Amino acid sequence: MSQPILTTSNGAPVDNNLNSMTAGNPGPVLLQDFHLIDKLAHFDRERIPERVVHAKGAGAHGYFEVTNPDLPKWCRAKLFNKVGKRTPIFTRFSTVGGEKGSSDTDRDPRGFAVKFYTEEGNWDMVGNNTPVFFIRDPSKFPDFIHTQKRNPQTNLKDANMVWDFQGLTPESTHQFTVLFSDRGTPYGYRHMDGFSSHTLKFVNQQGKQYWVKFHYKCEAGIKNLSVEEAAALSASDPDFATRDLFETIAKGGEPAWKVYIQLMEYDDAFKYRFNIFDVTKVIPHKDYPLIPIGRMVLNRNPENYFAEVEQAAFSPSHMVPGIEPSLDRMLQGRLFSYPDTHRHRLGVNYQQIPINCPYAVKGGVKNYQRDGFMAVNGNGGKGINYHPNSFGGPDVVPEAAAAKFEVRGIAGRQAPNHPNDDFVQPGDLYRLMDEGAKSRLVANIVGHMKNVTVRDIQLRAISNFYRADKDYGTRIAKGLGIDVNDVVKFTTRSNL
Ligand code: HEM
Repeated sequence: MSQPILTTSNGAPVDNNLNSMTAGNPGPVLLQDFHLIDKLAHFDRERIPERVVHAKGAGAHGYFEVTNPDLPKWCRAKLFNKVGKRTPIFTRFSTVGGEKGSSDTDRDPRGFAVKFYTEEGNWDMVGNNTPVFFIRDPSKFPDFIHTQKRNPQTNLKDANMVWDFQGLTPESTHQFTVLFSDRGTPYGYRHMDGFSSHTLKFVNQQGKQYWVKFHYKCEAGIKNLSVEEAAALSASDPDFATRDLFETIAKGGEPAWKVYIQLMEYDDAFKYRFNIFDVTKVIPHKDYPLIPIGRMVLNRNPENYFAEVEQAAFSPSHMVPGIEPSLDRMLQGRLFSYPDTHRHRLGVNYQQIPINCPYAVKGGVKNYQRDGFMAVNGNGGKGINYHPNSFGGPDVVPEAAAAKFEVRGIAGRQAPNHPNDDFVQPGDLYRLMDEGAKSRLVANIVGHMKNVTVRDIQLRAISNFYRADKDYGTRIAKGLGIDVNDVVKFTTRSNL
């Protein structure tokens, strides 16, 4: 087999890759050995910052196919305009709290991020495998994440931090119930559902606006790991989910999800019993049933993990005409945070990296952004670099404008004024579980909360579960050897 020649980074042939250039023999190494110095210097810079959350993940390429002819009635995005239309996608799954080398089977939500390479630009749906989240205001996110990571002194995971935050944040009771249920340890990435979690907005050709949530239901069926299986895999195969996804596709398997939406008329949001802009709440399916719209299929592994998975930059603000943000405050905070972290993690020209490049746009990306680190796509060539101009440079498309909507009220820091009972939905979820699922949930919470060393933190945390469902809270208290009457005395601060 004829082998390609080894070159230096400037393309010159390398004569010897095993011996550094020395002055004499033995002898010190020569500074003129460009190949050696370049090799070491490049290696010294191999690591980029890992994602501040969702650092451990795996990804695959595939497509989204439209199956519902009614989609254009609700949304003008071209990716939805025809049954059978296929849009190429790249999907990345992840755990949230752990570092890049952490175990795939830890109890954690799983990230579910999908990049759609559409003809109108890239649309990223950056969701999770849970329909809800822990908090409903973006200002709480850094604090919340600190509680999931390491104690600033011990550098250890810290149950006091986790349950202190939970107790003081009643709206997190719903997501904590999901997290400590069987679904907190999914069997890899192929056997879990995905959700936009947030409400987004659809706009149709006539400018009519709807609220929409996305649901991805895995065709392989939900499968979870028991606590014991998850712990054993953490020790024996911490990359279990990464391996499972890669090997399935390498063997010709095609993990697939049916894609559904929940759709709500614009005005109904303001009359509905739950706040659809609060990501700690679901919209019950009996009120707004799932409507099938398509299918997501993963059928191609990345050629290179760093290039395609590590450098993938998803953002909820990467939207296309017809898909717009809702009034969800968390989503609004995320619209800023992701491109901001990409500029830090990957550089200001992160959209030029091939995995992020909106390659399906006819004629490619055309704008007046120039220069910056790693401007590698020609940097606009000799094209004009300001707008407006008289030289035929790229011009605006007024039809792409976002739909107008009315805002009113007083500006200021304010809790959402929609009724926000934080305990109804986690209570409903608990009551929906069969006895086995309930007792595993309680045992998982007890198993974690027993590491808390401050009694009031335990009492306050349990009081949230008690308020969701008396039986739920009582059983947790009992598991920890706590008198439930001590729990009841604790009032929590709701709706903050
Ligand atoms: C990743 C911020 C809430 C899902 C990230 C990253 C940041 C971040 C900075 C790292 C991105 C990167 O380095 O590429 C935030 C903030 C939030 C928030 C500020 C709230 C205000 C959420 C919610 C969800 C979510 C509610 C799910 C519904 C994800 C996913 C990733 C991610 C899936 C990984 C994307 C990937 O695979 O590259 N988040 N996040 N986040 N976040 Fe969030």
